Amino acid sequence: MATQTHVPTALEAAGDVVIPVADELAGRFPLHANPSPASDAEYDAIMEDLTFGRAFTDHMAHMRWTPDQGWHDRAVVPYGPLELTPAAAVLHYSQSVFEGIKAYRHADGSIWTFRPGYNAARIDHSAWRMSLPAIDREDFVASLVDYVRADAKWVPDRPGSSLYLRPFMFASEDFLGVHAAHEIDYYVIGSPSGPYFKGGFEPVSIWVVKGYHRAGPGGTGTAKAGGNYAASLLPQMEAAERGFSQVCFLDTYQEKYLEELGGMNVFVVMADGTVRTPELTGVILEGGTRSAICRMLRSQGTEVREEPIALDELVEGIRSGDVAEVFACGTAAVVTPIGRLAGDDFDVQVPTGPVTEKAYHDLTDIQMGRVPDPFGWTYRIL
Ligand code: COI
Repeated sequence: MATQTHVPTALEAAGDVVIPVADELAGRFPLHANPSPASDAEYDAIMEDLTFGRAFTDHMAHMRWTPDQGWHDRAVVPYGPLELTPAAAVLHYSQSVFEGIKAYRHADGSIWTFRPGYNAARIDHSAWRMSLPAIDREDFVASLVDYVRADAKWVPDRPGSSLYLRPFMFASEDFLGVHAAHEIDYYVIGSPSGPYFKGGFEPVSIWVVKGYHRAGPGGTGTAKAGGNYAASLLPQMEAAERGFSQVCFLDTYQEKYLEELGGMNVFVVMADGTVRTPELTGVILEGGTRSAICRMLRSQGTEVREEPIALDELVEGIRSGDVAEVFACGTAAVVTPIGRLAGDDFDVQVPTGPVTEKAYHDLTDIQMGRVPDPFGWTYRIL
């Protein structure tokens, strides 16, 4: 089978830079152990529940940045409330970015993460766009390593579960002038989590929204900035009132082409086996899972086209059978089939099919170490 060449994006190329093994990075964030960690009963209750993003572990990684000192005070410290003044710039001007990445427990008990170099490169990109300081790639990965090693017992082993890692950075300077802040804090927290959608690998329903956009040309759409997610909440709430689990945004000028969901990228599987996903126009977020799926499918001989996808053609294709499957993907959502797509003047059911299922299994098999990783994406933490 002919394989389609995957031409790496700038972010993918930056993310492919080899990161030293965890033992070499470990110790940059020294552990200040939590004197009151979760009790056995609290731990058991959390590990039994595993609701996405609801409960957190005993520690968090932290470092601080000022123009004079750069990044300093690296440590893994007890998880707990942050002290901020009411004038902290992030509370007013939303100067903040974040990442989503996971720690997986393999069958032999070892703990791994997935493409940490990619997330390191992306937080750099997001930080640049939001006028936040760059983080050294190795420091970023070291913060994950030291945090996860400190809280290793919180990495669940139940199928479909992981320790969801949330690195984030924000302007903590107390100053109301609108400028790039001079005091920045970076943290990594983690939440032992099962699937993002309660149903797991079950089809979700999507409302295609008109009149609201999460980002526009030249805006912050390619940055993982909190404000982009805030912008998605109102349409998301309106969609939820109609009974839909997510929204899909269209392009800003014509409201004609698909962009992305509230926090996930979208793929369309054609009946002839071709797979399509909206091209990176400088507005949508370049998802790590999107990138992995493009690369994986191409290596398997599937033609993946990154191109504009017109909503009316998509709906027509679903009705005629030219479109076989539609799915969403993201770090939290992994690969989630879309079973219903609706908007102001259409409402169509989409079957769940083999391409979506295979993408889900192929990806999670690599992440969980059930098959060899031909791409060099997995990174051992412990
Ligand atoms: C992720 O997939 O990691 C995200 O950051 C998206 C968010 C909706 C949970």
